[in-house]
Amino acid sequence: MKLIVAIIRPEKLEDVQKALAERDVYLMTVSDVRGCGRQRGYTEVYRTTEVQIRLIPKLKLEIAVNEAFVEATVEAIIHAARTGDTGTIGDGKIFVLSLEDCVRIRTGERGSEAIGP
Ligand SMILES: Nc1ncnc2c1ncn2[C@@H]1O[C@H](COP(=O)(O)OP(=O)(O)OP(=O)(O)O)[C@@H](O)[C@H]1O
Ligand SMILES: [Mg+2]
Repeated sequence: MKLIVAIIRPEKLEDVQKALAERDVYLMTVSDVRGCGRQRGYTEVYRTTEVQIRLIPKLKLEIAVNEAFVEATVEAIIHAARTGDTGTIGDGKIFVLSLEDCVRIRTGERGSEAIGP
């Protein structure tokens, strides 16, 4: 099992959800977050000394999947969240984490059984 954590542009949520649904991935958690990548948002010089790093609003998707869905999920996010023909800085990032366990509280099911539909 893997936990796929994707940081995307907020305006890309609808396209990403659609692409995931086409691959039978529906279960997810979405949060409003702020962050900066390697461009550091942008730097702003205040009285020539202070440099402020700006945090840009993004969305964080958390999707727990069984191994069979990992690549399809990652590919769907890449294709739907990329902007323009070749991508643009700030398009986002995907982290793939090993997932120890999952529990469906209602039934007590564990692991793979609990993750999916
Ligand atoms: N190493 C990281 N750790 C945690 N969050 C990150 C990391 N890199 C990116 N993020 C998150 O992803 C968002 C989008 O990152 P972004 O797409 O700008 O990545 P990047 O590495 O700067 O690549 P690019 O050069 O394509 O912009 C950031 O605003 C931040 O929230
Ligand atoms: Mg960046």
